[in-house]
Amino acid sequence: MAQLQATKTEANLLRSFAEEAQLNRYHLAYARQAEMEGYPQVSRLFRAIAESATVHANAALRVLGAIRDTRANLQGAIAAETRAGQEMYPEMVQLADQEGIRTARVAFDYARQVERIHADLLRYSLEHLDELPSGEYYVCPVCGNTVLGRPPDVCPICGTPGSAWMRVV
Ligand SMILES: [Fe+2]
Repeated sequence: MAQLQATKTEANLLRSFAEEAQLNRYHLAYARQAEMEGYPQVSRLFRAIAESATVHANAALRVLGAIRDTRANLQGAIAAETRAGQEMYPEMVQLADQEGIRTARVAFDYARQVERIHADLLRYSLEHLDELPSGEYYVCPVCGNTVLGRPPDVCPICGTPGSAWMRVV
C-alpha cells in the first residue's frame, strides 16, 4: 500500500474528519431546534445524519491511524487542551476585545477557562491511570465547566446552578 504521509489524500482525510465532525455538531444542534419547534421527525432525521457523519469522521481517523492507546490518547488530549487554553483562546479573547464583539469574547473566555480544567482532569487520569476511582462527571451546559463527583451549587465560571448540569455516567 502507498505511503499515506504527506500525500494529498492524508490532507483530504484530515479535511474529511474536520468537515464530518462539524456536520455532526451542526446536525445535533439542528435536531434540538427542530424538536423545540415541534418537528420530531425532522429532529430524528438530523440525529440520524449526525450519527452517519460520526461514522464518516471515525473512518477518516481510523485510516489516518489517529487513535492510539489510551495513555497516548491522554497525552495527545492534554497537549491539545493546553494549546487551546494557553494559545488559541487567549488570542481569540484578545481579538474579540479589540473588535468589541462581547458575545464572542464571553464564549472564547469560557472555553479558555474550561480547557485548563480539562487538561488538569486529563493529566490526573494519566498520572493515576491504573488506580482511578470510578465516578460521574458533570458538565455545565453554559460554559462547559467539567467536574468529577458532584456539580457545585453554582458554576464558578458562569454562575449556572449545579441542578442544571449534565451528568456523564
Ligand atoms: Fe458554567
